[in-house]
Amino acid sequence: MKINLAVLAGDGIGPEIITQALETVKAVCSKYSHTLQFEYAPVGAAAIDACGNPYPDATHELCMNSDAVLFGAIGSPRYDNDPTAKVRPEQGLLAMRQKLGLYANIRPVTTFAELLHRSPLRRDLVENADFICIRELTGGIYFGRPQGRAEDGNTAYDTCVYTKTEIERIVRLAYQYAQKRRKSLTIVDKANVLATSRLWRQVAQEIEKEYPEVKTEYMFVDNAAMQIIQNPKRFDVLVTENMFGDILTDEASVITGSLGMLPSASIGIHTSVFEPIHGSYPQAAGKDIANPVATILSAALMFEYAFGLNAEANDIRNAVYQSLKAGIVTEDIVTDGKAYKTSEVGKWIAQQI
Ligand code: IPM
Ligand code: MG
Repeated sequence: MKINLAVLAGDGIGPEIITQALETVKAVCSKYSHTLQFEYAPVGAAAIDACGNPYPDATHELCMNSDAVLFGAIGSPRYDNDPTAKVRPEQGLLAMRQKLGLYANIRPVTTFAELLHRSPLRRDLVENADFICIRELTGGIYFGRPQGRAEDGNTAYDTCVYTKTEIERIVRLAYQYAQKRRKSLTIVDKANVLATSRLWRQVAQEIEKEYPEVKTEYMFVDNAAMQIIQNPKRFDVLVTENMFGDILTDEASVITGSLGMLPSASIGIHTSVFEPIHGSYPQAAGKDIANPVATILSAALMFEYAFGLNAEANDIRNAVYQSLKAGIVTEDIVTDGKAYKTSEVGKWIAQQI
């Protein structure tokens, strides 16, 4: 198969973890005789520095013309404490999601036996927890207008908007995932307060009838936040709107033992994007210490979702498990042994494949 990738490394540790994920991609392609082509393009603070735009048109063109996008991370402390900055790195990520029509962000939450002792939760609570969060990614308060400040500067507003069509497509997708798994879907909203949530619930209740074999449960987001730490094993597929999904998936990721382990896939209308769920970890940039595993596992999701190449995806996952077993891990998850560098872990995993 011919595989043509856009590589958007972004900011902070992005370039280092992407380099290692590419080592893995190259190893898999050579093992299975796929022809790999890839091209780098700037995004985020790096792109603002280069051309003043966090998602340049040329980057978008490249994404549109590629089979998949491998994405590192975005964000820079140079902008975080400057509320007056006119252009921000995160706008690049949001523009990419919107322009590529990436309405679904799939975040699998899986646990690793070797890391359970690092979980903030008791082992018996989290062992074998295995669920998927599906976050709506191009609607809600992230994109609703108006957004801004009143003229006097003392009042600010964001607007949460959802249309029936937007809700239908993400809820249907969630049902399809639930059908392929343990047939249980939790729909998370705040229908006791928000009008958008009440529309979510109404639309979901209509679609629910089309999937009688799936057990549907409706849950308020505050309760969901609590259940994720109290009884994470109760979840199979969870679907929710953009902002709730942003918050709940950070919470869900740490119960597995490290934020540095979890991949994600963003899918929708145009090219799909595969990226770790963690951020750009600027304190570690250039130090060769960041955990490359979330990005490497995102590459596994890419083989599976974008190309339907399951053996390739499983090879990557196996190589990652082997690295955990062998203790070839970065400092964030090391227990008593030696901490390996980002590049050492990446090379070991690629070698294993
Ligand atoms: C994420 C991130 C982004 C988001 C930021 C960087 C804009 O937190 O992908 O979860 O809020 O969506
Ligand atoms: Mg987030």
